[in-house]
Amino acid sequence: MANTSSNTPATERGTHPLNALTPAEIEAAGGIVRAWDGWTGSTKFETIRLHYPDKAECRAEIAAGSAGGSRKAYVSIYDTAADSVSELIVDLAGGRVESAVEVPGARPAINVDEFLVCAETVPQHPDFIAAMARRGVTDLSNIQVDPFSAGNFGFEDEEGRRLVHCLVYLRSDPADNGYAHPVEGLNVLFDLNRVEVLRVIDQKVHKVPAASSNYQAARPEIADMLRADLKPIDIAQPDGPSFTVEDRVVTWANWRFHVEFHPREGLVLNDIRVRGGEKAPWRPLIWRASIAEMVVPYGDPSFNNYRKNAFDVGEYGLGQVANPLKLGCDCRGHIHYFDGVYTVTSGEPVEVENAICLHEEDDGMLWKHTDYMTDEMEHRRARRLLVSMIATVGNYEYGFYWVFHMDGTLELDVKATGIMNTQGLNAVSGTDYGTEVMPGVTAPNHQHLFCARLDMAVDGDANRLVEMNVVQPPMGEGNPNGNAFRAERTVLKTETGRTRNADTERFWKVESAAAANALGRPTAYRLHSNGMLRPWFHAGTMMAKRAAFIFNHLWCTPYDADERFPAGRFVNQSDGSETIASWVGQGRSIEDADIVLWHTFGLLHLPRLEDWPVQPVARTGFRLEADGFFDRNPTLDVPPGA
Ligand code: NI
Repeated sequence: MANTSSNTPATERGTHPLNALTPAEIEAAGGIVRAWDGWTGSTKFETIRLHYPDKAECRAEIAAGSAGGSRKAYVSIYDTAADSVSELIVDLAGGRVESAVEVPGARPAINVDEFLVCAETVPQHPDFIAAMARRGVTDLSNIQVDPFSAGNFGFEDEEGRRLVHCLVYLRSDPADNGYAHPVEGLNVLFDLNRVEVLRVIDQKVHKVPAASSNYQAARPEIADMLRADLKPIDIAQPDGPSFTVEDRVVTWANWRFHVEFHPREGLVLNDIRVRGGEKAPWRPLIWRASIAEMVVPYGDPSFNNYRKNAFDVGEYGLGQVANPLKLGCDCRGHIHYFDGVYTVTSGEPVEVENAICLHEEDDGMLWKHTDYMTDEMEHRRARRLLVSMIATVGNYEYGFYWVFHMDGTLELDVKATGIMNTQGLNAVSGTDYGTEVMPGVTAPNHQHLFCARLDMAVDGDANRLVEMNVVQPPMGEGNPNGNAFRAERTVLKTETGRTRNADTERFWKVESAAAANALGRPTAYRLHSNGMLRPWFHAGTMMAKRAAFIFNHLWCTPYDADERFPAGRFVNQSDGSETIASWVGQGRSIEDADIVLWHTFGLLHLPRLEDWPVQPVARTGFRLEADGFFDRNPTLDVPPGA
């Protein structure tokens, strides 16, 4: 009875204009493109997803509750023989390709089906078999080949090709943790379009570490240690949950938002609104919120590592690696699930059951006060609403949890877990650039950097970005006792990239240029980050250019429907010519405008022994807090004992 669930299937079209394409709509779009005269025998699909209606049109449709007559698909295709990429807009009702634009130099993202083909093909190559034989390994039945995006390092024979580079591990049995047995000194470059090995690089023969290290409950060495002193904790919601879901729009307490599953960004929230009480009007806060890009740069200079810089959103897509979630395991209580859908290279839709989880949690104390004169105590209990998804990207897991709080705070809590990427201990890096986690096995230093795109709408589209720095006036007149400090407010007028400043406790806020609170001051929301890191790439390197977004903690641009991905539309092997840095170079006004915040945050991971063999969750994220948005604490209406 403790855990119950309901579900919105991927097949449910509904009426909301931002509902993702259904599997039937994806199939229809695929059929239209295959019948189009630009289609060849060697064309494949990178993606088929919803083409967003114009923002104003979309809002009008939401207000009218209309079925969105103009459903369109964004389709990107690539020709594996011509190495070309095109972006198409498909009119679903009209059954035609409305526009097609070739994107010179672009290389499409890597699809999961291509990964599997690569992992199966590589071990059959004679050079690979010979390299393994040099390591005394002739039985390749438990070999593990992990394809990684190849990046762009300017190598001549890689020009124009669409590549992955492969790291190799040797499992001792089919379900063994391969990362305990890295095959050091060996790397394979694989051409995805030609489905062939480009080269096997056998740099140096190292002995493959033989000792196993596992974590799975079914394995005898773990089963034997499972403890018996943990008693059950159950969540009971005898009257059901406090949220409702209609047409993928969630309403809970003072929050309302639309949930979208996106093949590239995974979990997306649209049209987030908040209110100051049960009968108060809904007020716009954010038009669209997502993780628009991420990158995991590794800090080891050795042969197998310098290339490891996965842009997991742009190079792969979080949607295609989303987990089907399990009731009572990933989430507890009453869960509402949303199914997801993505496409493989044939254009076929693949449904991910229970891809997104919606549930409530108890959250301890909301507020409390005891009046010392009357001894009367007032206490309110907090609860929170979570919308989440978990992506498995090779060895790592990322959990993205948007957390809605009763006091108007919206938080993104990112959880990193899974297995650290490993290499064999080698003479080049030794243990200087990583941590030896078991004899002969090191986990290299790395960072996990995320870029959240927040299309702000604080009480409407007319917003301004304000930077706040806490300053200390000099001692003397105005500060005779040396105790004074105040927050200095600076309005940023043109698009910009800003960095942290620990000395001034810097933070940013987005103010409405139109709405005022009861005291006549602009309504606003503050951004507080938990994960502002410095990047460790030297400026001027190709990686620094491609991952330009990591060089500022906060970017702000005026809304442009075409500016969606801060490392560019086509990130795989990109040259860094289309990034947020080039957009910001235009110097457009962001004053009293429809503005977009891009917040870069993340984790510095200097591996610990305790992160091995499977890593306990490490967390990062940020919070958006109401700042003069409400006229008082908006939770006075929460009943005692609720
Ligand atoms: Ni890590």
